[in-house]
Amino acid sequence: MTTVTTRVEPLRWGRGLEVLDQRQLPWRQAWIEVRDAAHAVHLIRALAVRGAPLLGITAAYALALEALRTRDLPRLRIAAGRLAAARPTAVNLARAVHQVMAAVEAARPQQRASAAVQAAITLHGLDAVACQRIGELGARLFRGEKVSILTHCNTGALATGGIGTALGVVRTLHAQGRLGRVFACEARPVLQGARLTVWECQQDDLPVTLLPDHAAATLLASGQVDGVVLGADRIAADGAVANKLGTYPLAVLAARHGVPLVSAAPLSTFDLACPDGRSIPIEQRDGEEVRRLGRHRVVDPSVPVFNPAFDVTPPELVSAIVCERGIVRPVTRDTVREAAG
Ligand code: MRU
Repeated sequence: MTTVTTRVEPLRWGRGLEVLDQRQLPWRQAWIEVRDAAHAVHLIRALAVRGAPLLGITAAYALALEALRTRDLPRLRIAAGRLAAARPTAVNLARAVHQVMAAVEAARPQQRASAAVQAAITLHGLDAVACQRIGELGARLFRGEKVSILTHCNTGALATGGIGTALGVVRTLHAQGRLGRVFACEARPVLQGARLTVWECQQDDLPVTLLPDHAAATLLASGQVDGVVLGADRIAADGAVANKLGTYPLAVLAARHGVPLVSAAPLSTFDLACPDGRSIPIEQRDGEEVRRLGRHRVVDPSVPVFNPAFDVTPPELVSAIVCERGIVRPVTRDTVREAAG
C-alpha cells in the first residue's frame, strides 16, 4: 500500500500545542498556541478547531498539556470533563479524552504527564493510519477509470490526524490517477466546504468544483457524480449516521438518483452505546451563524433561527460505511456490530 500524502497540517505538538485557526481560513494561516485545557475548550466551541477526529486529537493533547502543569487528579478530572463536553455530537471527542484520562489514572503520579502525552501521540498516529486505510478501501469501492465524487463539509486533513476520511478517499483516488473531480458543497452556514475543503484541495492540486448546497439535486440529476462520500460525527449501533447538516438531504437525493452514498469514518466515530439515530445528541448552534453572512448582518437579531449543526441519515440511505477495519455493507445493526464491536 502506497502512502498518500497531503501538504495540509492542522495541528503541531512539540514545545506545546499549536492549532491552525480554521476560522481564518482561507484568508490567513494563523497558528494559535493553546495555553491550557480551558483555552482548548474555547477554541473547540468557537470552531477554530473542528472535525470529529481532530476534535478528539486536540482535546487529547490539551489534556496532556494540563497534565504537564499539574499531577492533581481531581483537577485533571475536571479538565477532562470540560474537554469531553465542549461539543456534544462527535463521539471522538469524549472518547479521546477518556482514553487519555484512563492512561493518566493508571500511571504513578510522577508519570502522569508522560502517560498523557504518550496516549495523545498514540491516538494521533492511529488516526493517521486509519485515514490511509479508509482512503485505500474507499477508493476500491469505485471501479471506473475516472471517478467523480460529491462531498460535503470538510473531512480532510483539517478534520483528522491524517489525509482525511471522505477527503482521504478523494486524495487516494487522485494518487491513483483516477480522480475525475471532487464536487464540494459549500456547507452553509459556516462554509466548511467552501472555505476549508476547497482550500485543502487547492493545497494538494485536487480538481475541485464548488457548488451551493441546494445545487446538489441538479448535479446528481445530471449524472456527473459516481458517488457521494461523506464523513461522520457519530455512527449509532443501527448504522444511522450523524454528520454535518445537509447530509440527510444529500442521502435522499442520492437514493432518488441511484448514486451510492458512502460514509467514511474511523472506528472512533462508532458509538454502539447509542442504539439508533434518535439517541445521538445534536448540537444546536447560535442563530447568529445564520443571521449573518460573514461579518454582515442580513437578518434582524430578533428573528428566531433553527440551526442544528448536524443531521442524522437513516441506515437504509447509507450504501456503505468505510472504516479502517473494512467495508460495512449493507448497513445493518449486525454488520455495524461486526465491524465495530
Ligand atoms: O461542525 P464541524 O465542522 O466540526 O463538523 C464536521 C463534520 O460534520 C465532518 O463531516 C465530520 O466531523 C467528519 S470529519 C472527518
